[in-house]
Amino acid sequence: MVVSGKKAPGPRGNWLVGDMESYLADRIRWLRTTRKEYGDIVRLAPGTMVVHDPELAHEILARTNDTYLLETRQLAGRRQRAAAQARLDRWMAMRHGMWQGFAGHLTETHLARQMAQAGPLLDRHAGDDRDLVDRCRATTGRLIVDFCVGGDPAYSTLAEEAAVRADLLFTSAQAALVQQETRHRFLRRPLASAAAKANAELLRFLGDLIAARRTRHHAGPPRDLLDALLQESRPDDTEVIVSVLRMAMFASHGVPGAALAWIVLRLASDPRVREAVRVEAAACPAGGLGLDRLPLTTAFVRETLRMHPPQWLLTRTAMRRTTIGGYRIRPGQEVLISPYLMHRDERFWPRAERFEPERWHGAPTPLRRHTYLPFGSGPRICPGSRLALAHLTLLTARLAADHVIRAPHIDDVDVTCDGLLLPAGVRGGWSEAAT
Ligand code: HEM
Repeated sequence: MVVSGKKAPGPRGNWLVGDMESYLADRIRWLRTTRKEYGDIVRLAPGTMVVHDPELAHEILARTNDTYLLETRQLAGRRQRAAAQARLDRWMAMRHGMWQGFAGHLTETHLARQMAQAGPLLDRHAGDDRDLVDRCRATTGRLIVDFCVGGDPAYSTLAEEAAVRADLLFTSAQAALVQQETRHRFLRRPLASAAAKANAELLRFLGDLIAARRTRHHAGPPRDLLDALLQESRPDDTEVIVSVLRMAMFASHGVPGAALAWIVLRLASDPRVREAVRVEAAACPAGGLGLDRLPLTTAFVRETLRMHPPQWLLTRTAMRRTTIGGYRIRPGQEVLISPYLMHRDERFWPRAERFEPERWHGAPTPLRRHTYLPFGSGPRICPGSRLALAHLTLLTARLAADHVIRAPHIDDVDVTCDGLLLPAGVRGGWSEAAT
């Protein structure tokens, strides 16, 4: 059924920008209250709808690349949408290259290397005098860089440098995004310029690293993503390899760090659960942390991602005319889907506001399918989900087993969600427990 020409229900707001002002003042609150008042499809502004229904949300995500684009900004015009569509094939090809890299034994090889390294890595980032999110991002960022380029011990210093450069790119790009510098070309855009410079430097650095690694041909099973890509490539493929590595290092940089920050806060705030995780992890030797032997820790990580999904809001832009739940959508219109709201919806999750890792034991937990979306879904689903879960489980086990955590109680922490869902301005961290 198509509700011809009818607008989705929602607050009246302003004729030009709808209810955007109230939304921007407190996004999560706005989404919660309007869902209660108007239902599972809410109009936020002319051309922007929010979809809370799991089946419809799943359908939208599944139709990404075909009916919807993942890109959001600057897609109002037909020309911009056509350009985004043209970039898509190249992006999906790179994504495929990265996906190939994740397959096979590469993830296992990397994890075997990191089992014993997770403890020392945490110790290198120990302390409690720094922003918790920065500390966590540096920790998870180092693991990702190991996965991408850390397999050859002869280049371990360069892998360190790659981690620093990836962080610089992430922080400058994030600042440019959050501050929303003007897009007028004639005005200065210092944050965007800094991000562009960091990007160019990372690309150059990766090009040099690839050239160096090519001189030491490795014929055995790939030790990292770079080995895997080099073994599949021709000498003139350098630009593609650089793009894939940059994509993996950039897309995976901030999000796992945000997840780890929420894990630290959860460990600090729930002594009962923390003790259970500690006992489970302590039973596994540091060098041989088999992830299959950590069901409780895995459940802890899954539950943290349920309550605090870093990618708390997914956005899609319609490329063509379509309908959602009977409402017409025109090209250029935006659709928002919130994993955060979905994960805390009592209709799908009993005691949704309570942190209960036990809900992940045994039978599948949500009452309805398509209601757990920390990694998205459809053709643009996160390609790093398995690796990310493994990293977070490993770090959680080591944090609980051998570290003292210093962080405020999670109930006292403010949340920011301008980009990722993050604890706002929290200082904290961990130190090695005295034995
Ligand atoms: C806790 C950790 C992580 C979370 C919660 C997460 C979440 C997500 C989500 C929700 C998306 C889809 C966004 C959308 O549909 O709009 C995504 C995309 C992506 N993720 Fe992750 N991610 C994590 C870790 C990683 C890691 C470790 C990697 C790679 C090593 C990675 C690489 C990517 C890439 C390349 C994309 C873009 C895919 C595309 O646009 O086609 N992520 N991630």
